[in-house]
Amino acid sequence: MEVVITSSPDEIGRLGAEAVVQLVSRKPDAVLGLATGSSPVGLYDHLARRVREGEISLRQCSAFLLDEYVGLPEGHPERYRTVIERDFVSKVDIPSAAVSGPDGLAIDIPEACAAYEQAIEDAGGVDLQILGIGSDGHIAFNEPGSSLASRTRIKALTSQTRIDNARFFGGDLEEVPTLSLTQGIGTIMDARHLVLIASGAHKAEAMRNAIEGPVSAMCPGSVVQLHPHVTVILDEAAAVDLTFASYYREAWAAKPKWQGF
Ligand code: F6R
Repeated sequence: MEVVITSSPDEIGRLGAEAVVQLVSRKPDAVLGLATGSSPVGLYDHLARRVREGEISLRQCSAFLLDEYVGLPEGHPERYRTVIERDFVSKVDIPSAAVSGPDGLAIDIPEACAAYEQAIEDAGGVDLQILGIGSDGHIAFNEPGSSLASRTRIKALTSQTRIDNARFFGGDLEEVPTLSLTQGIGTIMDARHLVLIASGAHKAEAMRNAIEGPVSAMCPGSVVQLHPHVTVILDEAAAVDLTFASYYREAWAAKPKWQGF
């Protein structure tokens, strides 16, 4: 696991985008795993700039969302399919039809979840998965207690997650859905490269538990310790509780340039 402590949230976005650029440069039809929420917005903006400047193109890429709220109507501004269109698709050149998400409006939810797993498999699996982390340690919407082997399924959100996400719903907790469809932890672990990003003091405890705590279903983010290719990018505020921070800095400073992400 590579842990990169950066000076600012903008630098997280720049480095995260660089990981995607390096992948797409060697594999133009890469399959990307997309997170929503605040964390990846800077990364998407940096990526958009590099697409605009003609450095790379995502035209041949496809992408899968991590999760979706259950029951938000089509076009709802906080439906993740809408959010990703606004935060990512509209800024780059990936075809909208090449981006998929779990169907939070499905009548037959188990069938929709199985179809989503199949679609990821049919695409050849995710090459690079962008991950944020919840203040309670969740990745995607795998809340504490989620099976570390789980696949895409319905999952109830914790009250902490609903409180955290109320900011996207005008601060109205009642408006935040209670249920989600989410890629499972096993699904996420099948991706070939995980890029976990976090900024701010409110993520410090979750990051300490994820990176340096025991691997435990009580902190779903800790499962990344079992993955062979993980890049964690965080800012000073999110890194404040890390015991091994000075080593991460030394290792990053000593990293050979040829190695890339
Ligand atoms: C969203 C997702 C979530 C978020 C997490 C952090 O697709 O998978 O796990 O990454 O809730 O959200 P932000 O980035 O808004 O703090």
